[in-house]
Amino acid sequence: MKPLIVANWKMNPQSLTEAKQLFNSLKKGIKNVKNVEVVICPPFLYLSQLQTTNYKPHLGAQDVFWEEKGAFTGEISPKMLKDSGCKYVIIGHSERRRYLKETDEMINKKLKVTLKRKLSPILCIGETRKERGQGKTQTILKNQLKKALSKISAFNIQNSKLAIAYEPVWAIGTGKACSPREAKKSLDVIKKVISKIYDKKLAKTIKILYGGSVNGKNAASYIFEANFQGLLVGGASLDPREFVILVKAVSRS
Ligand code: PGA
Repeated sequence: MKPLIVANWKMNPQSLTEAKQLFNSLKKGIKNVKNVEVVICPPFLYLSQLQTTNYKPHLGAQDVFWEEKGAFTGEISPKMLKDSGCKYVIIGHSERRRYLKETDEMINKKLKVTLKRKLSPILCIGETRKERGQGKTQTILKNQLKKALSKISAFNIQNSKLAIAYEPVWAIGTGKACSPREAKKSLDVIKKVISKIYDKKLAKTIKILYGGSVNGKNAASYIFEANFQGLLVGGASLDPREFVILVKAVSRS
């Protein structure tokens, strides 16, 4: 399976000029890299302004709304994303769960419309520091998965390129990445849960990514030691040098 590396720019950079510069540096840096699929997720506003060549890289959005059109002030529809050149969309990022009070039910609705409109969702799940401390990681992951995938059939997932990103909330933006060993335990739980909801064969087609303080140094260990099929990268994706090092480290499989 080709590893999937997703760059989540979050609310950065602050101007279109900078966004274009960053995008073009990343694009140039990964031009000759093989065996890795790269997705760049800039803020909505920049999407239609960034040009990719042969999907290198792909474009993705950081969120989507669950309705298809109409009176929903401030929201962006799946069709608008497709029209802007998007192939992927991040759903349920912990920052949205925390600051925008996104619930598992909202995430489920977003997943459904994304699949319906043939965009590839990257579903984020993960436990907080407190939950980890209480030994609840497994339960949290199970619950988030079950609720997010509720009433979504195997048929809808087939060929959708659905990816699931395990992002321990305590590891995001803290510089304290989860060790590959600990992350591997969550990966196994996620695989087990999706095999149970669907079946083993379908579960095998779903890429599981790790996210949380990934950088050029630790990236490869999640792929080669812990067997993740990709990475979700925040901070390090804003530094073209670091990000290119990271992508190359993973491509050396
Ligand atoms: P980080 O963010 O790489 O800056 O920790 C990851 C994410 O939030 O997706």
